[in-house]
Amino acid sequence: MTAFLLDVDTGIDDALALAYLAALPSTEFVSVTATPGNVDADQVARNTLALLELCGRPGVEVAIGAREPLAIPLLTTPETHGPQGIGYAVLPQPAGAVSERNAVDLWVEHARNRPGELTALITAPLTNFALALRQEPELPELLAKVVIMGGSFYHQGNTTPTAEWNTHVDPHAAKEVYAAFRGRAPEKLPIVCSLDTTERMEMHPHHVRRLAEAAGARIPELVLPGQPEGLRSTSDNTLIRHLSDALRFYFEFHRHYDQGYLAHVHDFFAAGVAAGILEFEARPATVDVETGSPLLAGTTVADFRGLWGAPPNARVVSANYPAAAFTELVSAVGGLAARLA
Ligand code: BDR
Ligand code: CA
Repeated sequence: MTAFLLDVDTGIDDALALAYLAALPSTEFVSVTATPGNVDADQVARNTLALLELCGRPGVEVAIGAREPLAIPLLTTPETHGPQGIGYAVLPQPAGAVSERNAVDLWVEHARNRPGELTALITAPLTNFALALRQEPELPELLAKVVIMGGSFYHQGNTTPTAEWNTHVDPHAAKEVYAAFRGRAPEKLPIVCSLDTTERMEMHPHHVRRLAEAAGARIPELVLPGQPEGLRSTSDNTLIRHLSDALRFYFEFHRHYDQGYLAHVHDFFAAGVAAGILEFEARPATVDVETGSPLLAGTTVADFRGLWGAPPNARVVSANYPAAAFTELVSAVGGLAARLA
């Protein structure tokens, strides 16, 4: 079993990551918390709750922590993930309610109660995680593994020419988080899935078709570049219908930015790493974040050579294997969709 503390900003690729983890029989969702990013924190929490229920995981505690980044105003991105954060998908109203507990308190409490047992996965700006580290500086020792989706090193940013979205939304939080891991043992350092490798995770229309086939959907799921924008799925499989509607929006968004009719599913890759299923290689590095310069705000810098004379505080993923990852995604999420039908 992998017991997860998750922090998300659901989010189309967060949704895929959640569906993937929900599909794994080995996943225990200890708590899923919402950080504002793609959409505001209340919408993130609603999306997350609805999605977990849709994926056959009702009753998971979903909580909100910060409603704003640590030091700058919140920026959301409806053009990337749609007005509600799940592209064209309109998820059913969740039956459960968002927890009244504070997300940051929950992280600290769970980590203290189960030392060495919990895997932390953050696919959102690092605001809640930074606040949890302020409250419990020994979190890096208490957690079994930490995986972060964020940053961009030798790769063009996706928000500014040098900055990745999650880090750009809350650069001060990211700076604090990396500082908190300075001097930790190598196996305690966060595994950082940056754009350098997550943009290799290109989801294409044929993956959606295969997903529907694996789910046993009766009609082929055709999301095609020639179709009018905004077309909605008519799949008889509910989970496939929602994921297809979400992904169509993401394909169109990437095409608007000249990246082709495809979607970079960053957070799914980070989830597969956190679950211990997707293969990857990583290099130790000292990571820091620019917070001051207007030109470079949110830019992550990795020192792989010890030039700063500071010990490594991260393990930056340097290689991953998209074809195997998508085979795994299709089989796991397709299987879940088939079971739920
Ligand atoms: C990250 O930003 C968000 O928009 C995605 O959900 C992902 O976590 C990629 O830069
Ligand atoms: Ca995300």
